[in-house]
Formats: sequence, C-alpha cells, structure tokens
Amino acid sequence: MSMASVFLVLSLAIVMVGSVSSSKFDELFQPSWALDHFTYEGETLQMKLDNYSGAGFSSKSKYMFGKVTIQIKLVEGDSAGTVTAFYMSSDGPNHNEFDFEFLGNTSGEPYLVQTNVYVNGVGNREQRLNLWFDPTKDFHSYSILWNQRQVVFLVDETPVRVHSNLEDKGVPFPKDQPMGVYSSIWNADDWATRGGLVKTDWAHAPFVASYTGFDIDACECPPTASPDDNARRCGSGEKRYWWDGPTLAELSLHQSHQLLWVRANHMVYDYCSDSARFPVTPVECLHHRH
Ligand SMILES: *[C@@H]1O[C@H](CO)[C@@H](O)[C@H](O)[C@H]1NC(C)=O
Ligand SMILES: *[C@@H]1O[C@H](CO)[C@@H](O)[C@H](O)[C@H]1NC(C)=O
Repeated sequence: MSMASVFLVLSLAIVMVGSVSSSKFDELFQPSWALDHFTYEGETLQMKLDNYSGAGFSSKSKYMFGKVTIQIKLVEGDSAGTVTAFYMSSDGPNHNEFDFEFLGNTSGEPYLVQTNVYVNGVGNREQRLNLWFDPTKDFHSYSILWNQRQVVFLVDETPVRVHSNLEDKGVPFPKDQPMGVYSSIWNADDWATRGGLVKTDWAHAPFVASYTGFDIDACECPPTASPDDNARRCGSGEKRYWWDGPTLAELSLHQSHQLLWVRANHMVYDYCSDSARFPVTPVECLHHRH
C-alpha cells in the first residue's frame, strides 16, 4: 500500500467513528412520556394525542453536527389545535434548538409548518410555510442538516430554510452544545390554528401522527465526554465528516433556486419581514442571502 492509500484508509476509519445511522426506532430513540400512547406496526411508529395526554420521544444519544431525518405522516382529518414537533435541542438555559412544528387544521384546510432557531436560549425566529403536498396522506421526509457553516431545514430534500453561520458579523452560531433529537404531539389550541381561534375538537380524538425511516447520521457525543472532547471529535478538530465538505458549506445553486421557489410560493410568515414585531431588523436577516 502506498502512503497515500494508508492515509486514506486511516482517515476513512476515523471518519466512521461516532457517526451512527439506523432505520430502527429502538436503536436510536426511546419514548419519553405517555408510553401507552405509542403503537408499533413493523417499522412504523404511531403516537397519539387524546384528551388525557400527548406523547413524545427522544434520541438515546446527543450529537454535534450531522444530518437527522424522519419520515412523518401527519394527523389525518381534523387536526385543528394540535401541534406535532420534530426538533433538535441542547439542554440548559442557554440552549440551542432547531424546530419543525406542524400546526394542524380543520379537515381540508392546510397544515402549516413553523420553523424556529434558538441560539443561546433566544428564539423568536419563526418562519411559517404551507406545503406543496398534503402531509397527512403519505410519509414525507423532514431533515435537519447541521454543520459548522449552516443549519438547513429540508422537506423531501428541498431546503425550506437556511440559518447561516454569521459569526464574522457578530451573530452567535450554535456550534458547541450537543443536541438530542425529539418529537412530540400535544394540544396547543391556545395558539396553533388560526392564532388560537380554532380549538381542538376532542370528539375527533385520538389524533395520530405516524413515523418511519428514522435516520441519524451525526457525530455522537457520549454523556461522559467533556466539551473539549466533543469539539475535538465532532467540531473543528482534525477529523472531517461528509457534512464538513466544502460543497455543504452553503446551498448548491440548485438548492438556492429551490429555496427561492419555496419562499416565493409557500412562505406565509417570516420574522425577518415582521417590522411590527422587530422595529430593528435582526442582524442575521440583513445578511441572509435569501
Ligand atoms: C375524554 O374523552 C372521552 C371520550 O370522549 C370521555 O369519555 C372522557 O370523559 C374524556 N376525559 C376527560 C378527562 O376529559
Ligand atoms: C388553517 O386554514 C386556514 C384557512 O385556510 C388558514 O388561514 C390557516 O393559515 C391554516 N393553518 C393554521 C395553522 O392556522
């Protein structure tokens, strides 16, 4: 073997460490509350909300950087007042969080997808879009790609939101707290549907969200690892994962076009354009290219 191929083999071996990928719910996740509100059918998991309880699950591990995907089929029929969320979050008062929140609606009216980004405990970065398909009819994939340059929210691999690293403009970027992966369904009829005007109709319970295709391809952070260990193994140390590749430092041209299309045709709210709420435009909004 030449030196170059020895080096290649070694680097590949290093790249594999700490990256997990699996399609099985049990290998990656566990129910975190209301275990009696879970149903398993083969590789499909169902979580229900009724007038007693919602339900939630969480990943068994925490991660720094990578890509997390779940296929979800949202509540069919009347889902008004319910919220189904899929998100990543770190712990503590200065936590970071990347959220997909699916806001239900009365039968035949469109679901809305709200995304939000919390950095150091501060959120208030909501965007809302409707979808170009009915998310209650089939499974669709929802992903969060997180690397040191950007956080990208994807729906069926189409980017619907990018939160870029603008540390050079003085904007903090989430990059040093391991995050868990979570999902939950709960009653939010005080705000979810038409701003809280439409209440949950419990006569239509249970409200069921279905999940499959669980995939976490990310750098795992053992609970015992120190922040320095995590930074070295998952962060800007010597190792490089596929999500650190130069082509993922920003959207491709094709993806930029897709995002423009989503924003032009499906976005119904963007905190960046809400001058009543933010008389001073948030700094990251001035620099986002989209
Ligand atoms: C929940 O709904 C069921 C069926 O509609 C009803 O029988 C029950 O009393 C309700 N329970 C509560 C706690 O409201
Ligand atoms: C529900 O449907 C109404 C009417 O089409 C729409 O205005 C609203 O944005 C939809 N979604 C939510 C979450 O309220």
